[in-house]
Amino acid sequence: MLKGKKIILGVTGSIAAYKAALLVRLLKKSGAEVRVIMTPGARDFITPLTLATLSGNPVLSEFTEGNEGVWNNHVDLGLWADLLVIAPASANELAKMANGLCDNLLMATYLSARCKVLFAPAMDLDMYKHPATQTNIKRLQSFGNIMVEPAVGELASGLVGQGRMAEPEELVAAIAELLSVAQPKKKSNKRILITAGPTVEAIDPVRFISNHSSGKMGFAIAEEFANQGYAVDLVTGPVHISTVNPGINRIDVVSAAEMFAATTKLAAKADIIVMAAAVADYKPANPSDKKIKKKSTEMVIELAKTNDILATVGKGKKKGQFLAGFALETDNELANAQKKLKEKNLDLIVLNSLQDKGAGFGHDTNKIKIITANNKTFNFELKTKREAAADIVAHILTLAVK
Ligand code: CTP
Repeated sequence: MLKGKKIILGVTGSIAAYKAALLVRLLKKSGAEVRVIMTPGARDFITPLTLATLSGNPVLSEFTEGNEGVWNNHVDLGLWADLLVIAPASANELAKMANGLCDNLLMATYLSARCKVLFAPAMDLDMYKHPATQTNIKRLQSFGNIMVEPAVGELASGLVGQGRMAEPEELVAAIAELLSVAQPKKKSNKRILITAGPTVEAIDPVRFISNHSSGKMGFAIAEEFANQGYAVDLVTGPVHISTVNPGINRIDVVSAAEMFAATTKLAAKADIIVMAAAVADYKPANPSDKKIKKKSTEMVIELAKTNDILATVGKGKKKGQFLAGFALETDNELANAQKKLKEKNLDLIVLNSLQDKGAGFGHDTNKIKIITANNKTFNFELKTKREAAADIVAHILTLAVK
């Protein structure tokens, strides 16, 4: 996945520095060459020996080594790397990056680097929320640096909130995505709209109805279009995937109603629409704004139908617009998919069957069939979702762009 890629991992002083060990291991396993720079503060949290052993390279911290006049050239380091990853990025080092302060080797490398920079903040929730930190983050993003947002969860302080560094697996996926962003061959004036991920329907403030969709398929399709030079709007339910492609405008929603509102608004200006989201068909009819207390008897939740977004967009489809949907079936697959294609006024439907091993929710692979409006079926082998996305996009483009 990252074969031959040169990555500098900058580790700063945060309790999340322990996750750097796993991150180095995963990067190495993916084929990357990794060099680690630690800030002096980071050495209080994890030993250089651990990261040197895992990366197979000495860890750098200081501008000079020993008394022999050996200089660690930050300019060379910055030029060597394909990507500089700063994880964990503490509030202090983020502030220095945003303001061009340069009091350690990592900051000097940051300022010299010509490659892309990805940073993963880790700090307590109040530090993260503080306007000073938020302003620094916005500033870094305005430089083109890419953030992988911290997660919500229990923090080292015992408080619960947003501030936990993203897990190493999520970081590796974001790194792979960032390094695979191709220079678009041509800029197209066609706009693409994609829906992805699950929707989450509240029962009360703590419980919800949802499904197992990971969003991977929809995100892979969005990336494929963006890599081909198309401007993409991606409306997504809650997922654990970061979007790093500058060609993708991501709109995060939670419920089917929010997805309906965002999608129908954007559909008007879209040329190609692909709906890969697993939208809840039903939502609690009367969600409670207070936590529902346990009763001694059984309880029944009344469900109301949600709007079918795809069918609504299909009904209002304009001349020249191309509309594709997905069908996830467990039985009578082909007949059910053909029915959806017709009833929702689609130009193409992608069928995945839950009966196929390795296909569907959560997997990195998928086995698809493409059915077109003139009732032709195309069968594909089990492939990675990235490869399946390339097949889907190629198929759509041959039909939609004549
Ligand atoms: N879809 C949608 N809005 C909904 C339900 C589904 O836009 N409220 C879209 C999905 O994004 C997908 C297609 O419709 O592209 C088919 O979704 P699927 O769940 O397979 O089918 P349903 O129409 O919901 O029918 P059923 O659940 O009975 O199979």
